[in-house]
Amino acid sequence: MSLQKRKILATCALPYANGSIHLGHLLEHIQTDIWVRFQRMRGHEIYFVCADDAHGTPIMLKAQELGVSPEDMIAGVREEHMADFADFHISFDNYHSTHSEENQAFASEIYNRLHAKGHIKTRTISQLYDPEKGMFLPDRFVKGTCPSCKSEDQNGDSCDNCGATYSPTEVLNPRSVVSGATPVLRDSEHYFFDLPAFGDMLQEWTRSGSLQDEMANKLAEWFEQGLQQWDISRDAPYFGFEIPNAPGKYFYVWLDAPIGYMGSFKNYCDKTGVDFDQFWQKDSDTELYHFIGKDIIYFHSLFWPAMLEGADYRKPTSVYAHGFVTVNGAKMSKSKGTFIKGRTYLEHLNPEYLRYYYAAKLTNRIDDLDLNLEDFAQRVNSDLVGKVVNIASRCASFITKRFDGMLSSTIENQALADEVTSAGDSIAAHYEARDFGKAMREIMALADKVNEYIAVKEPWQLVKDETKQQEVQDICSLGINLFRTLMIYLKPVLPKLAESTEAFMNDELNWQDHTVLLTDHKINKFKAMLQRVDMDKVNAMTDASKESLAGGEKAPEKKAEKKKSKKSAPKKELTGKPLVDDPISEEIQFDDFAKIDLRIAKIVNAEHVEKADKLLRLTLSLDETGSGEENTTRQVFAGIKSAYQPEDLIGKLTVMVANLAPRKMRFGMSEGMVLAAGPGGEDLWILNPEDGAQPGMRVK
Ligand code: MSP
Ligand code: ZN
Repeated sequence: MSLQKRKILATCALPYANGSIHLGHLLEHIQTDIWVRFQRMRGHEIYFVCADDAHGTPIMLKAQELGVSPEDMIAGVREEHMADFADFHISFDNYHSTHSEENQAFASEIYNRLHAKGHIKTRTISQLYDPEKGMFLPDRFVKGTCPSCKSEDQNGDSCDNCGATYSPTEVLNPRSVVSGATPVLRDSEHYFFDLPAFGDMLQEWTRSGSLQDEMANKLAEWFEQGLQQWDISRDAPYFGFEIPNAPGKYFYVWLDAPIGYMGSFKNYCDKTGVDFDQFWQKDSDTELYHFIGKDIIYFHSLFWPAMLEGADYRKPTSVYAHGFVTVNGAKMSKSKGTFIKGRTYLEHLNPEYLRYYYAAKLTNRIDDLDLNLEDFAQRVNSDLVGKVVNIASRCASFITKRFDGMLSSTIENQALADEVTSAGDSIAAHYEARDFGKAMREIMALADKVNEYIAVKEPWQLVKDETKQQEVQDICSLGINLFRTLMIYLKPVLPKLAESTEAFMNDELNWQDHTVLLTDHKINKFKAMLQRVDMDKVNAMTDASKESLAGGEKAPEKKAEKKKSKKSAPKKELTGKPLVDDPISEEIQFDDFAKIDLRIAKIVNAEHVEKADKLLRLTLSLDETGSGEENTTRQVFAGIKSAYQPEDLIGKLTVMVANLAPRKMRFGMSEGMVLAAGPGGEDLWILNPEDGAQPGMRVK
């Protein structure tokens, strides 16, 4: 048992308030939650806070797209996130928002302190500006032709085709993703945080802290490259906090995001009377840990400690980064149904399966973690159902039926009991070090031993012999006791299973009791505690993840797969305004999806549109005969000129949204939308008549 009571504050990175929680986020929340629950069980004073990250351009634009105020949107998303986390048993002490009074107060205070010490510089920079929308464009809101390989429709900062990185001002034929307009260069004064001034302090912090090796190495690389001043301001319109004494200038979202850790904790302290300052003052003797993903190390290990130092606050004790979740060996993909939202998972599977699987595979390193769905089902079934719960279910009925639920007064095999109970310190050390996989392996090895013991003793045989009844009670009592010890060890990972165990054992599971075995103790009737993972449900979950996409992707995929197996990027809208390039955020309800009438259409004519460099005017026919008679034809403008010569398209079939309200475009009415796949610029759902598709056919 721990000697000294520690005071700890732990955080998870703050999820953006414009998309749903998915199984990638959940790795981080489950990892932190296990660690926090472990510390609580060990009797330490630990607080666990998080919040939604509610600011920034993507959130502002998403709200506009939805026609709601950003305040309303982020309030709704926060509710959704909180419900998801609660259902995965993430035990936050507080879940706040960065768009809060507390956060604004800290952001302003920290900025003012940095400013007073000369750590804020101003400089005029030139950036791409959308003249139609009246706003500066972040890199990801500019698209155009790669300056290096000339591939079209590439991001403003990097090329998916050749991998080049560049500045958005170098992009050829740039256009604004927001309005489609051609951006212009415009000057504006920006505020910078003087990171280089903190170089020595950061190097020292790196050495003195308990950083992961990979993180220390990464930092060493960054130090070598030299630290740069950090642009912390954005011009209006921006959803965020206005910078003090700088009208029209807003804090860049990443400035106030980590301050959100403080804001959330302050909000908690004000509600509960916990001493905020004790945790955040310089020279605090409390511990502060940030659990984050590997993509946001720079923010947490350079900017954040420097801001804290410059504003006279304490620095993190450590920052713990984890790798990324892949599913079935690949990046989570919407088209494969492996981009799985937390809510979709919960509709099909028990959250503790995932908690266990992640725990079993987590190390304290920054490696990616593969959620292989077959392995997931097999592992959970073999370990939790087949090993751990099996111990209880094999022993319980004898105790209940024959001994009125009483555990015996002696320990049948002291050596085995000692082995299981004495493993607690080593398991605790693995938990402490966030080496959960090692902890799980050690627990499962013990479970194997207990099962072996029961298998050798065969109480189900002994029970037939009237003279062996005491032995049966002793063996089964030890089995049940050791099951209880194992469940103490597993309680940080499986809080609900631990609860069922407590009900069954008629006893609380506390860490320090792992050395205590219960004798002459009455237990309750054993009820089934955990179902096996059913692979059908896993498959239903991935199917449902395909369906929760914007219309059009699932159905045509099967047909098109033969032809276009090469890439499965999210669909792109080809007429009018391009979608904001945010794969996580585009969510519709199933009802919305059901409204979309997807039809096979025959391209009866295709021609260039004068003065448009991307568009083709397509005449699509929904008539089965493909005759192109008037009442069944639609004119659609599609931005696919880069990929197709009009004459190549004529006579081909494609998939269109047939019930889209007509829209007036610069060149005429567009009366539908054709669907495309691939990275844009090259792939259209072109089908061959030989595949059996007929114009007018519904695609559902
Ligand atoms: N809002 C910022 C964090 C601000 S913290 C002051 C952000 N948000 S996020 O929603 O994009 O990501 C939240 C966390 O989830 C990050 O730590 C990120 O690394 C993690 N993950 C997002 N996708 C992930 C996987 N596929 N796998 C594992 N973690 C992932 O970044
Ligand atoms: Zn390129």
